Amino acid sequence: MNSLIRYQVEDGLALITLARPPVNALGQTLRAAVLDACQRAASDASVRAIILHGDGKLFSAGADISEFGSAASFAAPSLPDLLSRLTQLDKPLIAALSGLALGGGLELALACGYRIGEPSLRLGLPEISLGLLPGAGGTQRLPRLIGVAPALDMMISGLPIDANRALELGLLDRLAASADTLVEAARAFALDLLGDLAPARPQTPFAEPAASVAEDFFQQYRQTHEPRWKNRLAPRLVLAAVEAACVLPLQAGLERELALFKQAEDSAQSAALRHLFFAEREAGRIPGIAEDIALRPVARVAVIGAGTMGGGIAMNFANAGIPVVVLEQKSEALERGLANVRRNYESSVSRGKLNAEQLEQRMQLLVGTLDYADIADADLVIEAVFEKLEIKQQVFRTLDEVCKPGAILASNTSSLDVDAIAAVTRRPQDVIGLHFFSPANVMRLLEVVRARETAPDVLATTLRLAKRIGKVAVVSGVCFGFIGNRMLEPYNREAHRLVLEGATPARVDGVLTDLGLNMGALTMTDLAGIDVNFLVRDSNRSAFADDASYYRVGDALYSLGRYGQKTGRGFYLYEGRQRRDDDEVVALAERLASELQVERRLIGDAEIHDRCLFMLINEGIQLLDEGIALRAGDIDLVWTNGYGFPAWVGGPLHYAEQLGLDKVLDGIHRYRDSLGTYGQRWFQPAPLLERLVAAGKTRIEKI
Ligand code: 3HC
Ligand code: NAI
Repeated sequence: MNSLIRYQVEDGLALITLARPPVNALGQTLRAAVLDACQRAASDASVRAIILHGDGKLFSAGADISEFGSAASFAAPSLPDLLSRLTQLDKPLIAALSGLALGGGLELALACGYRIGEPSLRLGLPEISLGLLPGAGGTQRLPRLIGVAPALDMMISGLPIDANRALELGLLDRLAASADTLVEAARAFALDLLGDLAPARPQTPFAEPAASVAEDFFQQYRQTHEPRWKNRLAPRLVLAAVEAACVLPLQAGLERELALFKQAEDSAQSAALRHLFFAEREAGRIPGIAEDIALRPVARVAVIGAGTMGGGIAMNFANAGIPVVVLEQKSEALERGLANVRRNYESSVSRGKLNAEQLEQRMQLLVGTLDYADIADADLVIEAVFEKLEIKQQVFRTLDEVCKPGAILASNTSSLDVDAIAAVTRRPQDVIGLHFFSPANVMRLLEVVRARETAPDVLATTLRLAKRIGKVAVVSGVCFGFIGNRMLEPYNREAHRLVLEGATPARVDGVLTDLGLNMGALTMTDLAGIDVNFLVRDSNRSAFADDASYYRVGDALYSLGRYGQKTGRGFYLYEGRQRRDDDEVVALAERLASELQVERRLIGDAEIHDRCLFMLINEGIQLLDEGIALRAGDIDLVWTNGYGFPAWVGGPLHYAEQLGLDKVLDGIHRYRDSLGTYGQRWFQPAPLLERLVAAGKTRIEKI
């Protein structure tokens, strides 16, 4: 038998083991092997029932994502076809599920007549996060097995459920006592079924799935959920497929599902999400650093500073079961910080995301101190004190004195030079930047800043640790703003300047949210604080001393005390969470424009889009050229995980490839030539963009 499958017959039971590491992805070769093995079992008169299970830790993570968009995706036997054939076998087929049964893996289990799991099993249909819908019967078979509402919930959330919930829903028939005894329990289950003369496939509880929900269910569902879907295609296709399950017989429903799946697979949105899936995995690999490099153990963490960031950072480790010591200068600040952390957890409890016992367990992992001696044995220390170089350097001098040899010393600075921080220690090789985003316990992005002397094992250790605490880590070189904030600068610049030239803040932001961004650039500035923005700008004024025209509106709002949401006024007026346009801002822009002799005019949406987005893209390409970012995909991860850029657009650089690199370059030239001295000053194409276009490249890479 093929090495992707192990096949063995014992006591009249065929045991078919899927063995395609690392995740038993159901690529063409494995599909063919499963079909072969099942046919062999079906035609062997000594076999009375068939058990399918996964080698190693998991059953299957689903279809092979790398096949999507290529001929291999539906190469025979296609997954839907294979599963339909399995449903026609006349012997009981039992899926013995361990670890994970995701996507096509769960659909494979649904094609079996019976399912047994083990306690740590998680089952899910995460296709939606790849811009897809379950395409191998999931949208038709799951509602028939567990009812429409819970099935739809799994497909729309994409989140897995645990074994107990699956048992409750009837998605599992039995639970083995442990993963180790799963196969044994599956054998016993098979023998029971044979003893009971059970049919190869039992009737499903919801043969008419529509009967499991109210008549206006789909209408209500759309009303509640659609506004949150923005311009995403996949949730709409999922819903259409599940609706089909309610009105069509199984076979016709499966055909409808297949058509919808192909539409999703061919969509630009799915291509974008698949790009991010692989980019996320690629980001963990650093050229020149061996994958098996020995890592430094990290069992104890310390955080310096219990402010907004320090508290959130500490929570990440407590959430992952890693003890954290939080150090402050004064007891009031420490108490305030720890109380904030507790309040944060309490709010999770009130939202049902955590229970009271878990809250206490996490708080017990968090210990406060005012004494550096208490962090001497930490394996990793993350500094999150005020953003002033001298203060941070002083902290690092102390860390150098007290920390054990080999401890990783990290700074959460958002803009300071990590080399200058490392330089005050006698161990710059152990120093690294770990730029968390606010709120640090929520945001997935972590920029890992590799300083000049950061040791390879320090970098590799922090990347692995980031995964342990659920972050998407992206490596950045040292520069002002690192990857994300440096790109934010030209993007914000255009948003501000457009207001000066005649666009309203609402129109600028509207164009960006129409693309799918969580919020527009100016709303984001109001949220982050116009004062914070001003101070960052003030520390770097020399970088745009020759033309600060574009920030005059921001500077003026600052001097009026309009700091954004926190003062109720910024680019907009705020009443609670409600945002309104403000004529005063328009009047202010008019006055400043006339002072600066900037002509005000009607500005179309296309210009807003192109100026903000092309400048964002241009800066990203420049970062790649400078080696600050290692890959285009890394830049896309930063913006989709840290800045609310829509994942289904794939990130700014993937988007540029979709638009066409030549079009982006043409647009930059156009504004360079049409916006006078401002255009000449700022619309300078990145040399790498020019080289890529000249070479006829359609993908962004360093050449
Ligand atoms: N297809 C192809 N490769 C896959 C894969 C899949 N479904 N799932 C994981 N892999 C690969 C990863 O690319 C990675 O490869 P690499 O080592 O070369 O980078 C390797 O398996 C290990 O993956 P992770 O690094 O992500 O390992 P983790 O242990 O952190 O996570 C996982 C494992 C939870 C299974 C995670 O990989 C995951 O979420 N996978 C995707 C699951 C999914 O979306 N399934 C649905 C697929 S679509 C489908 O089934 C359509 C069907 O309805 C027709
Ligand atoms: P904050 O002002 O809320 O907290 C700073 C804390 O550090 C205060 O509690 C203060 O008492 C403490 N502190 C100051 N000096 C100290 C010292 N010598 N020893 C021990 N504790 C000391 O500031 P915030 O917002 O938490 O920022 C901290 C760092 O994180 C800064 O470097 C900032 O640039 C960075 N950052 C902030 C983000 C944000 O959105 N707030 C996002 C990403 C990074």
